Order: sequence, then structure tokens, then C-alpha cells
Amino acid sequence: METIVSLAKRRGIIFQSSEIYGGLNGFFDYGPLGAELKRNIRNAWWEDMVHRRDDIVGLESSIIMHPRVWEASGHVEGFTDPMVDCRESKQRFRADQLFFAPVVVVGEDGAETTIGYVSALESEDTAADLQARAEDLKRKLGARGTLKPLVVADITAAHPEEIEKIPSPATGKPGSLTPPRSFNLMFETHVGALRDASSVAYLRPETAQGMFVDFKTIVDTTRVKLPFGIAQIGKSFRNEITPRNFIFCSREFEQMEMEYFIHPDADWFACHEEWLQWCRDWLISIGIPADLLSFDEHPKEKLAFYSRRTVDIMFRYPFGVQELWGIAARSDYDLKQHAKHSGKPMEIFDEATKSKVVPHVIEPAVGVDRILLAVLCSAYYEDEVEGEKRTVLRFHPRIAPYKVAVFPLLKNKPPLVERAQALYRALKRKYNVFYDESGAIGRRYRRQDEIGTPWCVTIDFDTVEKDGTFTIRDRDTLEQQRITEDQLFAMLEEKLG
Ligand code: GLY
Repeated sequence: METIVSLAKRRGIIFQSSEIYGGLNGFFDYGPLGAELKRNIRNAWWEDMVHRRDDIVGLESSIIMHPRVWEASGHVEGFTDPMVDCRESKQRFRADQLFFAPVVVVGEDGAETTIGYVSALESEDTAADLQARAEDLKRKLGARGTLKPLVVADITAAHPEEIEKIPSPATGKPGSLTPPRSFNLMFETHVGALRDASSVAYLRPETAQGMFVDFKTIVDTTRVKLPFGIAQIGKSFRNEITPRNFIFCSREFEQMEMEYFIHPDADWFACHEEWLQWCRDWLISIGIPADLLSFDEHPKEKLAFYSRRTVDIMFRYPFGVQELWGIAARSDYDLKQHAKHSGKPMEIFDEATKSKVVPHVIEPAVGVDRILLAVLCSAYYEDEVEGEKRTVLRFHPRIAPYKVAVFPLLKNKPPLVERAQALYRALKRKYNVFYDESGAIGRRYRRQDEIGTPWCVTIDFDTVEKDGTFTIRDRDTLEQQRITEDQLFAMLEEKLG
């Protein structure tokens, strides 16, 4: 992960927001290459989800909506994480990520004594950290006997009298942790000049509510028929207690969500399964290796308040297997809530049954930033070419920031430079391409490999003096062949179309 973060910073792909002021935890900026990468992911999703289908329409709703939207949706009441404060260090932790265990020693006579508690924040090595701390505690206290295997739980499961005994992960000492409390993740703001209870509004924590609130307008102004979907891409905001893992869990992020409305009597389970497959296939189509993906079904007791079934597509990030894409069956929960709170019916006339129905919904919801991180992690590759270490980002051509780099073999030969510039200009009308004339060809290849450009073309003397063909070099196979300009355009059309 460190390698990826440092490459992202070195090449200006992604870096901390407001860096000159020391950065702001949980906020990131995407530099020129990152912005291209992100845009390409968004565009690929929109093309495949909206343009290439007949049953899905797009939407762009506002980020700040009427505050009653979030009362109706249940977010004001239920969009919370349990948190624990350390009174001494003033740090705040997510309670479900803070693990503890009583340290029990069994004496020679078989008697069990609890000699204290250990704690650790969730990581790849939580169990090992806790074990090492338990052994340390036993050694420090000089306790005799053997350590009983640790029984680990997160701090939401601690009895009130245990809280005082659990060490804070910030100080390593007990006595400063508060009991877990609910913390609402929505960012609050005020609309208008007055700042009182009546002016409170929220930055949206999901784009989904836009689709539910505008459902009736879309039904009345377009010719959609069940089943159909409404898709949206946009920023969402969550005041995460512990933003972590680079852009994986940040406070400002971008979602690509689609609400697929189906007849209440339709087979929602089968539809949910179809969307699971669609999403997995789509990730593979943009270059994410299938063997890094898996499914994780939420147990009933962990379902979000609006869901009757949720399955996550998981990705094997360097920091562990984590959620990439959540596919939830939200039933008619949201439409019914908005009908109740707004007093406006949320129905559609179903031609097949000649009746008005409140549809059920299947929702694939994914974060652009999480896909981008998965793309970066799976594309990163190191190898050796002609005895030199090479760093490569093997982006799928559809996602790559630059599609082609154009080089004149020598920069001091005007005919080569003119021909290379002409090709660059012609390509640029359709694709994002890069022009580079400085340094040896090998160095120019390496620079493009490191930013994931799939093809480099070199204009040489044969191009201008003989047949007009030039060399095209493939980033992954390193193969080189001579092609014409028409062939290059045809190849790009095929690979990127
Ligand atoms: N709409 C579901 C989510 O934001 O996770």
C-alpha cells in the first residue's frame, strides 16, 4: 500500500487535500492523471449502465436536499456509528473497530484470575497485537501460571464496568475511555442567513435519496415502464470517525448508484442475483482480476435499516479483503417512507396488471474512489526490462489516463518532429494522448509505463522517407510492430469502443 500511495503522490495522481496547510484528514485531491482516471471510470460506468441499456435513465440531483428527506429516509435517526472517546488524548475511535480482551491467567491449582485488559485497533494483525500485549502485561505484573486463550470482542460488547479497565489505544492506559455512543455521520450545515434549528440542512450521505425523491417526476415526465432504473453519479459526504486506508474510506467521496425499480410481485431475489453478476462482470471488464473479487452476504442482524438482503462484492486490497460494491434489496422502504412523510403518492401505473403499484428496488451502490483504488492496486506491477527495473500500471485501455504516447525518434530532426506533431494532433481530436520528445526512447517508454499508457508510437526516418509506417510498442507484451495511421485509428476504435 505504501508503494501505491507514494507512486500516487510522486506522479501527482492522488494526494492529501489542502497539503500546503498540512492536509485535512479524510479529504483527497486528484491531480491531472487521477482526474483522467476517475473520469474514465465514471464514463465507462455511465456508458454501460445508462447509454448502452434501454431500461435505465440518468439523474443529477442536488447535494443539499430538504432536511425532511433525511428524516423520512431514516438517516437522521439511524445513520450512526458507535464511537468511543479517549478523554486523555481527545482521540475518537469507532467502537466496532476497537477490540479488547480480558487477560486471564490459570494458576497451577487451576484457579483463573483476570489480571487486566488489553486493547487494539482493527488491523491485519489485531489478534497478534492483542496476544503480544497480553503476554507483556503478564510479564510486567509477574503473574504466575499460563495465559488462557484470549476471548476477543469489539468494545460495543463490553460491560459498563469493563470500560474503565480497558486501555485506550492512544495512551496504552486504562481509565480514559468513554462508553460507546451513537454518532451521526451526516455533515450538518445551515441554509440561508439565519443559523438556528430551522435552517439546519445536511450534505447528502448517499446519492440514492435523489432517485427516490424524484421518482414520481421521472415517472410522469418520461415513458419509463417497470422494470426500470435511475442512475446517478455524484459526491456524497460522511463524517467518518476514523477515515482510513488512503482513499478507501474518506469523508468526501463519489458514488455511482442505480435504483432498479421492479413490480412488488416480481422475483426480487432473482433480480438481486442478476445485478450481483452484472456488477462483478463490469469490474472484470475494466481490468480488475476475477481472482481478487469475492462475494460477502451480510448476516440478517447486520443489515442496514433499509435492507432486506445485501451482498457486497469484496476486493482483496493490500490492507485486506474489503467492501467494494454493495448490492442491496431495499424493498419499497424508501418510496413508502417518502409517500408517508411528503403526503405524495409514490406509485406507477403498471400496464401489465392495470393497477397502480409502489415498486420495490434493487440498488447497486459503489464508490468511484474505491474502484479507482482497486484499479490502481491491481494494475501495479514491477518487472525488469533490459536489466532495468520497470514500474508499470497495467490499466485497461478504457481506463488509462493517456491512450497513446507519440514520440519523434530524435528531437533535433524537424521532419520527424513535424510528422510526430501531426499524428499527435490528429489523435488528440478523439483521444487523450501524450507527446514526448525528450530523452532516450527507453526512458520515454519507462515514463509512460509508470503512468499506464497502453501504447507508444515512434516516428522514425522510415516513417518520413519510406512508407509512412511507424513503430507501435505494447506496454504489456513489449512487442513492437510497424503500422499505418489508419491501422492505429482502427485498433484504437476496436480496443476503446
Ligand atoms: N445507498 C447506499 C450507500 O450509500 O451505501
